[in-house]
Amino acid sequence: MCGITGYIGYREAYPIIIKGLQRLEYRGYDSAGILLYNDDVFISKTKGKVSDLEDLMNTDSSKQGNIGFGHTRWATHGIPNNINSHPHTSNSGNLVIIHNGIIENYDALKKELIKRNYTFKSDTDTEVLVNLIEEVKKTNDCKLGKAVQIALNEVIGAYAICVFDKTKPNELVVARLGSPIAIGIGKENKEFFVASDASPFIEYTKNAIYLEDEEMAIITANKEVEIRKIKDDSIITPEIQQLKMNLEQIEKGGYDHFMLKEIYEQPHAITDTYRGRLIANQGIIRMAGVDDNMEKFLNADRIIIVACGTSWHAGLVAEYLFEDIARIPVEVEYASEFRYRNPIITEKDVVITISQSGETADTLAAIKLAKSKGAFVFGICNVVGSSIAREAHAGAYTHAGPEIGVASTKAFTTQITLLSLIALKLGKAKGSLSNAAYRNYLQEMELIPKKVERLLKEDENVKYISSIYKDVPNCLYLGRGYNFPVALEGALKLKEISYIHAEGYPAAEMKHGPIALIDENMPVFVIAINKGHYEKVVSNIQEIKSRKGKIIAIVTEGDIQVKKIADHVIEIPETEEAFTPLLTTIPLQLLSYHIAVMLNKNVDQPRNLAKSVTVE
Ligand code: F6R
Repeated sequence: MCGITGYIGYREAYPIIIKGLQRLEYRGYDSAGILLYNDDVFISKTKGKVSDLEDLMNTDSSKQGNIGFGHTRWATHGIPNNINSHPHTSNSGNLVIIHNGIIENYDALKKELIKRNYTFKSDTDTEVLVNLIEEVKKTNDCKLGKAVQIALNEVIGAYAICVFDKTKPNELVVARLGSPIAIGIGKENKEFFVASDASPFIEYTKNAIYLEDEEMAIITANKEVEIRKIKDDSIITPEIQQLKMNLEQIEKGGYDHFMLKEIYEQPHAITDTYRGRLIANQGIIRMAGVDDNMEKFLNADRIIIVACGTSWHAGLVAEYLFEDIARIPVEVEYASEFRYRNPIITEKDVVITISQSGETADTLAAIKLAKSKGAFVFGICNVVGSSIAREAHAGAYTHAGPEIGVASTKAFTTQITLLSLIALKLGKAKGSLSNAAYRNYLQEMELIPKKVERLLKEDENVKYISSIYKDVPNCLYLGRGYNFPVALEGALKLKEISYIHAEGYPAAEMKHGPIALIDENMPVFVIAINKGHYEKVVSNIQEIKSRKGKIIAIVTEGDIQVKKIADHVIEIPETEEAFTPLLTTIPLQLLSYHIAVMLNKNVDQPRNLAKSVTVE
């Protein structure tokens, strides 16, 4: 986790860095800090948010310099306090570092450094790393770049680092293993930007280099960036990419919160996901990553889907899609469990990984494991050029645009859209789907964005329901079939941003335990659409009703039966059962949003969370 950003060039570095940190704050917001150099090193850091750092800096007139870097932290080693905040300085005071990741062998390295009389102020692994680099520099009498390269060969763990040496103040050294780093290249190499993603420098340059794992870069103003392999110090010719992201996409655009903006962006985002892929009137789904590997998908013994959090919920929806439509057996795995379970993976398995950020450490490790066992790995990511996108054998982007709110919304619906297209494509190729059904699905998919739009217009009703239940301590979410994962996702959304305890269950499981919780104070959100097991869900609702639970039901437009028994209903437009998660999810996202706002919670940056989980 953590966000890092830096600048070297001819402009004042402070405004660029502080703005960059605000854009990266989704990666962690336990503390923030900055380094600037103007004849001398200036460091300011504080527990809290980037705005706290800004307040601190406003009282300081020395915030000048054309080189510097900043950090926003998601705490791993050491509690969030001023001392553990980055940047960290070496014992001599010459070297300064910011770091995203974890140095796993920091304790052994620290003991070794202590023997050599190094002292430590913080509890962080990062302070160990900067002193290790200092020690290597001293013993080898070498430049910073070489010292970083040698030191990193002694390190076990994950890192994206940016290091500054006071004795060579026109240079930044960056390196990556497991945590992302993008380098923005200004005109004629007159300035450079460093960041965890490209958002801090998007208005200055569209040219960027994404460092690969085990690569480092020496960045000097007015010189070509020098990229080296950390392992053997060999020089690499970098590939300069053209960024497509624009500034508008990463700003709030009139909405109070990124989360709300991203909920409302879903009609567009879903369209962008299938744009150019779905040609409904010709009965075509075109996806290069699937087309080029069709044999692998069709001959697969099974599909294993690996992901975390909301992406895992999208994977659960995909289990229904693939088994129902394409008749391929599917297993859905938490990446964190899968990677450590010694799972049985063969060359006949297709592993699909799903990740918004493309940086989730457990998912990335699961890919590496699956590849080592000979499985074909297909990555579904939102962030272009992310580690998972690069590590997978093939894949597809969701094209949802940047998702900044920590709670995932449009990433989820676009992942389901993409997974639906793949399931339909495979169902067609396998002949498990009739031509008529296939055509019907394709036409229906094109109608989904308009149906989401219609649903968003019902927001006032959702807001009213939110106002009634905002103060409850617990909630249950129930759904069956395709909408069981939506119940899980609804519960996750509520707990992560409002801190209300919520649990999702398959509706029929209720009677095996959770029913004991139901009394007149327990709101139960039930997805009771007129498809699949409607009658059975109606029976589940009756069971809740007879125990005086409060029922908030998501029903299909025109429903009569559930309306009679539920305390509140939210209607969704009619669609194919397989596509209902794309609609039923929307009111549950809005509900969580409104409740969190009404409770005065920090919607976009809920406590203890971060957008990109690059630690395991
Ligand atoms: C919840 C949420 C998380 C992520 C999870 C995986 O709203 O955002 O549960 O879904 O951390 O992240 P990605 O999809 O980036 O791998």
